[in-house]
Amino acid sequence: MPTEKITIKDKSFVPFIPAEAIQNRITQLAQQINEDYADKQPLVIGILNGSVLFAADLLKKLTIPCEIAFVRVSSYQQTSSTGAVKQILGLTEPVKHRDVIVVEDIVDTGLTINDIRKQLLAGEPASLAIATLLHKPDALKQPVELQYVGFEIENKFVVGYGLDYDGLGRNTAAIYVLSE
Ligand code: XMP
Ligand code: MG
Repeated sequence: MPTEKITIKDKSFVPFIPAEAIQNRITQLAQQINEDYADKQPLVIGILNGSVLFAADLLKKLTIPCEIAFVRVSSYQQTSSTGAVKQILGLTEPVKHRDVIVVEDIVDTGLTINDIRKQLLAGEPASLAIATLLHKPDALKQPVELQYVGFEIENKFVVGYGLDYDGLGRNTAAIYVLSE
C-alpha cells in the first residue's frame, strides 16, 4: 500500500486503491469475461481518456479473440427536446451484430454511460455489456445496467490509474482519493 500523498495543483490526494488490488480485481473481471465470451469475438470499445490504463490491463488478460476500438465522448450538449446528451466520437468499426463490451473508468451519475449505451444500441449490436473499473452507487442520477464492476466506491472524488484532476494525475498505478 503506497503511503505517500500526492499533490495535483491545489489539491492533496491520499492512497485509496493500491496497484496490486487493482490488478487482482482486473484478473477476476477478465476471467469472468473470458468465460462469458468463450464462444464469441467481442468488440471491446474503450472510452478515452480515462479508460486507457484499465482497458490495456484488462485486454492483456483476455484470452478470447477480440477487436479493440477507442472512442471519445463529447462534452454535454444541450438539445431542446432531450436535454444534455453526450455523443460518441471516432467510432469507425460497425457495431451491427457484434458483441460489444464498453470499457469505462468510472460510472458516477450514470448519465455518460447511459448516453453511450443508447447510441451503441442504435447501431444494433448482437449484445452490449459495460465494464467499469469504478462505480459510485450513491452518485447515480438514473438507473444503470453494469455487467462488470471493478470496485464500488463511496461518493468521493478519485484520481489516478486513468482518472484525472484537471487533466493531471492519470499516470499512476494506484488510485487516490481527495484528502479532506
Ligand atoms: P457520469 O457522472 O456521467 O460521469 O457517470 C462519468 C465521467 O465523469 C468523470 N468522473 C470522474 N473523474 N474522478 C475523476 O477523475 C472522479 O471521481 C470522477 N467521477 C466522475 C469521468 O470522466 C467519467 O467518465
Ligand atoms: Mg472518463
